[in-house]
Amino acid sequence: MLLKCCLIFFVMFIAGNTTITHQYYSEEDFIRMVRDNITAANAYVLPQDNSVLIGDVRNERCIHDYGTFDFIIVGGGSAGTLLANRLSEIADWKILLLEAGGPENDFSDIPGLNAFLMFSDMNWGYYGKPQSQACLGMRNNSCVAPRGKVLGGSSVINAKQFVRGNKEDYNLWEAMGNAGWSYNDVLQYFKKFENYHIYNADPFYHGTTGPLDVGYTEPTIMTEAYIYAMRELGYPWVDFNGKNQIGSSQAILTIKGNKAATGGRAFIDPIIMRRPNLNVTLNAFVTRVLITHGTRRANGVRFIRNGEIYEARASREVILSAGAYNTPQLLMLSGIGPRSELRRHNISMIEDLPVGRNFQDHPMFIGLVFKTNQSLFNESFEDTILGYLNSHRPLTTSFNIDSLGFINVNDSKSTVPDIEHMVMAPPGWNSPAIISRVQNLNEETLAAYFREYNPHTDLVFLTVLLHEKSRGSVTLRSNNPRDFPIIDYNYLTDRNGYDIDTFYKGIEHTLKLLETDAFKAINASVISVVAGCDEHAQFSRDYWYCAIRQLITTVYHPVGTTRMGNSRHNSVVSNKLIVHGMENLRVVDAGVMPEIPSGNVLAATYMIAEKISDDIKLHYRQL
Ligand SMILES: Cc1cc2nc3c(=O)[nH]c(=O)nc-3n(C[C@H](O)[C@H](O)[C@H](O)COP(=O)(O)OP(=O)(O)OC[C@H]3O[C@@H](n4cnc5c(N)ncnc54)[C@H](O)[C@@H]3O)c2cc1C
Ligand SMILES: *[C@@H]1O[C@H](CO)[C@@H](O)[C@H](O)[C@H]1NC(C)=O
Ligand SMILES: *[C@@H]1O[C@H](CO)[C@@H](O)[C@H](O)[C@H]1NC(C)=O
Ligand SMILES: *[C@@H]1O[C@H](CO)[C@@H](O)[C@H](O)[C@H]1NC(C)=O
Ligand SMILES: *[C@@H]1O[C@H](CO)[C@@H](O)[C@H](O)[C@H]1NC(C)=O
Ligand SMILES: *[C@@H]1O[C@H](CO)[C@@H](O)[C@H](O)[C@H]1NC(C)=O
Ligand SMILES: *[C@@H]1O[C@H](CO)[C@@H](O)[C@H](O)[C@H]1NC(C)=O
Ligand SMILES: *[C@@H]1O[C@H](CO)[C@@H](O)[C@H](O)[C@H]1NC(C)=O
Ligand SMILES: *[C@@H]1O[C@H](CO)[C@@H](O)[C@H](O)[C@H]1NC(C)=O
Ligand SMILES: *[C@@H]1O[C@H](CO)[C@@H](O)[C@H](O)[C@H]1NC(C)=O
Repeated sequence: MLLKCCLIFFVMFIAGNTTITHQYYSEEDFIRMVRDNITAANAYVLPQDNSVLIGDVRNERCIHDYGTFDFIIVGGGSAGTLLANRLSEIADWKILLLEAGGPENDFSDIPGLNAFLMFSDMNWGYYGKPQSQACLGMRNNSCVAPRGKVLGGSSVINAKQFVRGNKEDYNLWEAMGNAGWSYNDVLQYFKKFENYHIYNADPFYHGTTGPLDVGYTEPTIMTEAYIYAMRELGYPWVDFNGKNQIGSSQAILTIKGNKAATGGRAFIDPIIMRRPNLNVTLNAFVTRVLITHGTRRANGVRFIRNGEIYEARASREVILSAGAYNTPQLLMLSGIGPRSELRRHNISMIEDLPVGRNFQDHPMFIGLVFKTNQSLFNESFEDTILGYLNSHRPLTTSFNIDSLGFINVNDSKSTVPDIEHMVMAPPGWNSPAIISRVQNLNEETLAAYFREYNPHTDLVFLTVLLHEKSRGSVTLRSNNPRDFPIIDYNYLTDRNGYDIDTFYKGIEHTLKLLETDAFKAINASVISVVAGCDEHAQFSRDYWYCAIRQLITTVYHPVGTTRMGNSRHNSVVSNKLIVHGMENLRVVDAGVMPEIPSGNVLAATYMIAEKISDDIKLHYRQL
């Protein structure tokens, strides 16, 4: 027994090394902790609004003074944690980081159990507005919209894939009028926060001294099958975060040993005890930005914490890092947004800007499944957890995502992909209960999915559309911060049908993998898992068009809702991320991206925070 405990302590120590003190666990205690969290998640009912954060505010009139800081950062998520770290390097600056959620814990550190965090108080609890052209296999035609509500934000509940996107994505940002955002300009910032240990990476493109750990976990036989199959089709194994993105690779993850490497773990834990000028206040729900009367100058924020109202003042800047849904909501509640939207909700307007418009995401098709004759990870719950403690799969990556590929199905010569594969090795959707909740599938769709799909043997090809032409919106339900924002994905509504057609081409392209020797060796064959499309000949074009409308959902990459640009007509912030027409107010989160990058957007979000922290230091002559 003693030996076992020591072993676990050792594993946790080398993998963890956070300054937050660890609870001491025996294997049995650890397994119980995991089981209890899963049980709690299974019983958890997501909130319908923000009542839990507001509670019973005891006295509306009594507003407590929380003091004055140089910078107030709203949202201790992915961007907010990095920013708080960089700005608090200046010892003379007092930084306040306000986060609505609580701390991370040993359960949230397990990359492979992030699905359960979506059913806990670490998720805000949003759902998308019912759709007419997509999400038809979901309850109420509504796709999920999870967002992290915890120190580290969505980087805690996310799937840990680390993808920069394409050089040309950033060159495009610059070409759209955003000086300083070309790939040559931003590469140094991608490198700065990375501790990239991918052995086949080109060091020119990577940092190895930054606070964020990025690495591989164990490969499986499926990784090999996919990478060899892609090679047969002419796609090399690449470091898709390096010189060339087109090709395939084993998944590259934000993990440190077996644990999640999140914004909180990477950027806050190592400094929190050492920087008295940084105040991290958790469970603080910000309800408005305070603007000096008769001016357009932000001077502080109001927030609710434990049933009390507070106001904190910012002598230099208020920085909104509340994410692509909450930042627009907060701006609109504070009088900054589209005139018509503010008028509809009786909010007096301070600045008329297209907040919440130009919402882009990565829709993904979850209905492409290959049956194989291999069986992976058919182990007991206990063995799975013990395996995790020794850094073994499947829990060291989310949803057992195994490998990624980037292709262009419109123009095979293009260096910019339009489709991404995320390949889930067995057991991907390891139970009907999981996929039913995580994707909000309706009963009929769920039953059809599991009629042929065997989680122990089958590969799910998550097929991601990288550059959708449709645009959604984020609007207000009311002028009360108690209400959730309205999230309208508006998927597959582009006039020329580019989105659905590119999905279709992506599926056809993926089916070519079945002709490769590598996939024949695992006896791979496509199976039909989509309900509601029986009237079409199986695997015909009409069948896939139908299937796409049933089974696309979000890869959880909302951007663009506070987009960066020159024009007040189609953008909200400048290239320095200052809100147009306002003083002392910036937005630094995924919402500022003017066009969505060709890959999972967390890396770009960190890059944005890293770059802007240098801009801020330069502006105040601290660099
Ligand atoms: C389930 C899921 C899986 C994903 N998988 C991947 C992946 O594998 N790879 C990848 O690259 N990207 C992934 N993403 C996307 C990526 O994680 C996000 O795009 C990124 O983390 C966004 O960073 P952010 O700083 O803009 O927002 P967030 O990280 O969401 O941070 C916003 C923070 O602000 C806080 N906040 C919001 N409103 C208030 C308020 N009023 N008062 C106080 N605090 C507030 C929130 O609680 C949160 O902590 C995933 C996202 C999700 C949800
Ligand atoms: C943060 O500031 C508040 C208000 O000034 C103070 O009460 C609190 O103790 C501070 N917390 C930390 C960790 O410094
Ligand atoms: C989940 O795990 C954390 C420790 O990591 C623990 O503090 C918490 O109590 C657990 N939650 C439940 C509901 O068991
Ligand atoms: C379904 O959507 C409608 C329209 O938005 C909404 O009124 C209703 O509450 C939703 N039902 C469920 C179960 O979510
Ligand atoms: C562990 O963390 C401490 C405190 O941040 C640091 O000094 C030390 O170098 C770290 N050790 C390793 C192995 O990362
Ligand atoms: C807006 O204000 C008017 C007049 O005060 C009131 O009648 C109306 O109900 C309000 N609408 C909303 C959405 O609050
Ligand atoms: C998984 O293991 C169980 C029990 O060991 C066995 O009955 C079952 O056939 C296995 N499933 C697969 C797909 O290998
Ligand atoms: C598809 O490829 C052609 C040829 O390279 C190109 O002209 C066209 O713009 C591409 N279409 C899209 C939607 O990217
Ligand atoms: C290959 O798959 C086919 C179709 O699923 C099945 O009939 C056959 O038995 C499999 N062969 C092997 C060797 O697994
Ligand atoms: C899987 O199928 C292939 C091709 O039919 C066959 O060569 C291989 O031996 C099979 N493997 C297993 C484990 O059944």
